Amino acid sequence: MTAHTSWFTHDRFGMFVHWGLYALPARHEWVKSLELTPEADYDRYLARFEADLFDPAGWARAAREAGMRYVVLTTKHHDGFCLWDSDLTDYTSVHTPFGRDAVAEFVEAVRAEGLRVGFYHSLLDWHHPDYVVDGHHPRRGDDVEALNAGRDMARYRAYLHGQVRELLTRYGRIDYLFFDFTFPEERNGLPGKGPEDWGAEELLATVRELQPGIVVNDRLGLPGDVATPEQHQPSGQVLVDGEPVVWEACQTINGSWGYHRDNHDHKAPELLVRMLVDGVSKGGNLLLNVGPTGRGDLDPVARRTLAEIGAWTAVHERSFRGAGPAPFAPPPDARYTLRGDRLYLHLFAWPMNHVHLPGLRGRIAYAQLLHDASEVRVSEPEPHDPHGHMTPDVPLDSATLHLPARRPDVAVPVVEIVLEEAP
Ligand code: GLC
Repeated sequence: MTAHTSWFTHDRFGMFVHWGLYALPARHEWVKSLELTPEADYDRYLARFEADLFDPAGWARAAREAGMRYVVLTTKHHDGFCLWDSDLTDYTSVHTPFGRDAVAEFVEAVRAEGLRVGFYHSLLDWHHPDYVVDGHHPRRGDDVEALNAGRDMARYRAYLHGQVRELLTRYGRIDYLFFDFTFPEERNGLPGKGPEDWGAEELLATVRELQPGIVVNDRLGLPGDVATPEQHQPSGQVLVDGEPVVWEACQTINGSWGYHRDNHDHKAPELLVRMLVDGVSKGGNLLLNVGPTGRGDLDPVARRTLAEIGAWTAVHERSFRGAGPAPFAPPPDARYTLRGDRLYLHLFAWPMNHVHLPGLRGRIAYAQLLHDASEVRVSEPEPHDPHGHMTPDVPLDSATLHLPARRPDVAVPVVEIVLEEAP
């Protein structure tokens, strides 16, 4: 069964949610590995996992109002802590003061908001007794040989496959599965882990059997349905073996996936809107992350950021939803997206009075600023007069848009161009 990716490339914009035990130390989801935290020290947080403000409905509402149409939750991150009532371990949210199956409540809330459901699932597991200590493991500085002596990755693979089966059989239709991550290369002098360590072929077959049509990413170490550039924006359409593929850039607000109290590197909402547009102009999606706090709700920065993005998407949705790359080279500091016979010019910098669009002479029926539907006059350039000083030296195959001197008060101004015919 091949994946149904048409909804994915139509929706263009999703929410990533990194939430778990690591929200309590509140200094990055890798804190256990970064600080080589002993098990007993890390497991102190179990007794503090109350999450009395856990609010998946609030997460889903904030996602929809931001313009997001799918939400991906970390069911288990690298620390091995599970957010659902697994039969295969007690290291779950049910066995904490919180005491509930967070995945079940998440799925219900996201569906109630009319959004699609995605699960992130870590292939790594720094808690499981059979997961062989590797270069990322928090125990990598201990007597690794002794630690690994009794560990059996076959038992870990059975656990991994069993838990994926639980997730894909208990919560109805799951639209997107985001595995993370395969690292065959040696790290810190210890071997990595490749697809064979996960039993990736068999695992992927199980996924496709249990959830026909599900979209699966590319981090099992096998080709997936979606390429997943992370914390960078690709320079163009992402290619695999020279062929364009479905892709999604996953990005954070402040560089940390999990809640990081003292990290104030948050990106301006305008930058995040430009990243969304940039990705769509190159045929990709944006999966923007939030890291709810140890109380279980969104922090004020995430709330404000999503609200400001939502103010833009609310009046610019048709420039990215169901849109993709255009077959024209945009002017400087701009991105084009195309949806049928509508060409959208996203102006990352505001030009002085005019913007000239090479190759569009005679192809524009009408143009307007999208946010307020105010007309943008279109003209066709005269031949440049080298002795004069009023005619711009632009290619004669261009069309010229006449813009107001003042930049509209929106995150990214957009001109909606109605083409005489769809290219
Ligand atoms: C990287 C990080 C992991 C995060 C993931 C999100 O793999 O190690 O913590 O969950 O990116 O894509």
